[in-house]
Amino acid sequence: MKYNVRGMKIFVLEDYAQMSMKAARIVAAQVTIKPQSVLGLATGSTPLKMYEDLIHMYQQGIVDFSEIISFNLDEYYPIEKENEQSYAYYMKHHFFSKINITEGNYHIPEGLIVKSSGHDKALEQLCNNYDQAIIDAGGIDLQVLGIGNNGHIGFNEPDIRFESGTHKVLLDEETILANSRFFKSIDEVPKQAISMGVRNIMHSKKVLLLASGLGKSEILKAMIFGDITPQVPASILQLHNDVTLILDKAAATEILPFLTQYEIGLVR
Ligand code: F6R
Repeated sequence: MKYNVRGMKIFVLEDYAQMSMKAARIVAAQVTIKPQSVLGLATGSTPLKMYEDLIHMYQQGIVDFSEIISFNLDEYYPIEKENEQSYAYYMKHHFFSKINITEGNYHIPEGLIVKSSGHDKALEQLCNNYDQAIIDAGGIDLQVLGIGNNGHIGFNEPDIRFESGTHKVLLDEETILANSRFFKSIDEVPKQAISMGVRNIMHSKKVLLLASGLGKSEILKAMIFGDITPQVPASILQLHNDVTLILDKAAATEILPFLTQYEIGLVR
């Protein structure tokens, strides 16, 4: 089913597999109509199958990634690229090493910088460079997002300044807890990250947000139907003019009762 709520297109798919395929098709369409697309990419568990589907499409010759440029949303800090929990490792392992993206065309915020007296300045410079690299590439054509249980997008946690660019963030207790499932123990989860800011996300020409599972259902309701507030960072997307949400039925549980009146094609 397809809905339009406050200008946001919402697709509700049967399950995670269908949700992932729908998202993969939208990304593939973007790359096909503009081979030099600039993609904003997310990590986490939600887009894993979308990446798998895109790899299959590449293997079947349906999509060619050789000219795309990509910018990932975020990276833990501090973390080494070789660390299996780093987002650099995730992207290489789950996507980049399996498609024909051109070496040097993908970007992930730097998770580790050499400690020195000018450490904070150097970090700020790296963040500014990341913002500038996105601008130099012509801006992001399509930004893929997941959503945290607390409403974060990228690692823009509640109370974020909406005008922020790439910056260092302190991860929320809730995020650390949610992400501890990928680590041996919660103590190993980095407490900080480098994340694109809300400003970077809002400047993307199109936004594609994926959510799966009952656990995301409450926050999606707040994001879509609630106030636009830094307490729910994703709520800012109500103000973006080209947002598509791809949800599976479980993620849509809380919003489904409210959606009927927004069905596209419904004659009122
Ligand atoms: C990941 C990211 C995060 C995740 C969010 C949901 O790059 O920016 O905002 O999208 O934490 O994570 P999952 O998909 O694991 O539920």
